[in-house]
Amino acid sequence: MRIIICDNYYEMSKKAAILVASQVNMNPRSVLGLATGSTPEGMYSILINMYNNKEVDFSEVTTFNLDEYFPISKSNSQSYDFFMKKHLFSHINVPETNINIPNGEACDAEKECEEYEKKIDAFGGIDLQILGIGQNGHIGFNEPDEFLFSNTHKTDLTESTISANSRFFASADEVPKNALTMGMATILKAKKIVLLASGKSKHDAISKLVSGKITTSCPATMLNMHKDLVVICDKEAYHG
Ligand code: PGA
Repeated sequence: MRIIICDNYYEMSKKAAILVASQVNMNPRSVLGLATGSTPEGMYSILINMYNNKEVDFSEVTTFNLDEYFPISKSNSQSYDFFMKKHLFSHINVPETNINIPNGEACDAEKECEEYEKKIDAFGGIDLQILGIGQNGHIGFNEPDEFLFSNTHKTDLTESTISANSRFFASADEVPKNALTMGMATILKAKKIVLLASGKSKHDAISKLVSGKITTSCPATMLNMHKDLVVICDKEAYHG
């Protein structure tokens, strides 16, 4: 694991954007794994500026998002589909047909997950996976538990995630209770992983991750099994 400690959120976002742009410049047909949440918003906005300045071109890139609420309509402003369009896809030139997000409108969640996993494999796997981290150490919607699913699957949201995400909904009752998410094995198959963390609230989870120990009670610690993991965090997330 390589850890890059930044002074602040902007520096973290800039470093991450440069890594993504370098990946795409080195291989224009890169397969990117993308994440939602407030953490990568700054990185996306810098990537949009880089695209506008012709520093990076996404016309041949394919993307796979980590997760999506279930069930949820794509037009719901809280869906991750909506988030990605708002914060990235509507501002850059990645072709719509190259964008993959688990379908929160699927009739058959199990089939959707199985096909999603197969599609990632058919593309030769993810070249660069961007991750955020939950306060409880979740990755995507892989929540702390005794057992974790390996591949893309439908899962229940924990109370702590429902409560953390309720800030985006009118009330906690409106937060969907399920999600479709890549599993830890899906994520660990990525060739390179970049995890972003900002703010004191992430300190506990980051401390557990950098301890080098592995436990399913903090799914992020499983990233210690990956041979090319870069953690980019700000001082608050690292030092508390
Ligand atoms: P956040 O969420 O970026 O909004 O903090 C990260 C996550 O829950 O994975």
